[in-house]
Amino acid sequence: MKRKGILLAGGTGSRLFPATLAVSKQLLPVYDKPMVLYPLATLMHAGIRDIAVITTPDDQAAFQRLLGDGSTWGLSLTWLVQPRPEGLPQAYTLAEGFLAGSPSALVLGDNLFFGASLGPQVERAPLGGATVFAARVRDPERYGVLVLDDGRVVDMVEKPADPPSPWALTGLYLLDGTAPARAATLRPSARGELEITDLLRTWLDEGALGVEQLGRDVAWLDTGTPDALLDAASWVRTLTVRQDTVVACLEEIALARGWIDTDDVLERADRLGPTAYARYLRSLVHR
Ligand code: DAU
Repeated sequence: MKRKGILLAGGTGSRLFPATLAVSKQLLPVYDKPMVLYPLATLMHAGIRDIAVITTPDDQAAFQRLLGDGSTWGLSLTWLVQPRPEGLPQAYTLAEGFLAGSPSALVLGDNLFFGASLGPQVERAPLGGATVFAARVRDPERYGVLVLDDGRVVDMVEKPADPPSPWALTGLYLLDGTAPARAATLRPSARGELEITDLLRTWLDEGALGVEQLGRDVAWLDTGTPDALLDAASWVRTLTVRQDTVVACLEEIALARGWIDTDDVLERADRLGPTAYARYLRSLVHR
């Protein structure tokens, strides 16, 4: 069975108020494009084309204006809504019908990954069990944190006051086809949410939770505060300007994979008008 994708882009974005009072956090721009396109690129880099996008009921129309049915990039998008942000594992109860028993990659709509080795790492991961991706950070207390022993996960803790390691749990989770059934058994934590660490623990207890430590070539950027968001945008701008490129260009990924052809790319460039982005698209065709 092929791995399907889930892009979770709901939530209130309350930590970025007032920036997110009127617009979803995942639609805020990170330099030249909306945030959600970066995690979508992460799934595409792993060869995943069949993707459920989960949003709040209010924001769904705006996401649909941006992404449509996904055919612009040779994708098949399924639209789901999460009425209330009751926790990350709810993505699995909502997506149960969409997954129909398939293994999946869940990516959070506010997680930005950059680097060539991640896509192949996801593609190589086993379809059975669960695999998480760990990144070394300075401020692990802001994330789920892994306790590792010799490259294996021994324990996990969500936002610990006293982090047991510098290894943060990133927002990319590869779970086997049993995820919806496991998610259905979870109960809310003390903070009233279903916790991703509780879902992952069901595999840990069975000795079936693998971890991939992100390579040095992979950057995992944060978007949780106004400063982090600006830093992410600056980072994208630096690469874009210095290398005269577009970072996380969905059309480029789709073209390289043969999901769309050069005519599709030129058509898209025409739609985007006299922009640097459109110029870049034309340069992909007229190399
Ligand atoms: O970014 C990685 C971290 O993401 C992990 O290290 C943590 O273990 C994991 O719990 C999560 O922590 P956050 O504090 O970032 O979670 P947050 O509630 O901010 O939600 C992350 C994204 O998922 C955010 O863009 C909103 C969306 N979301 C969140 C919840 C709880 C939903 O779409 N629905 C939800 O119910």
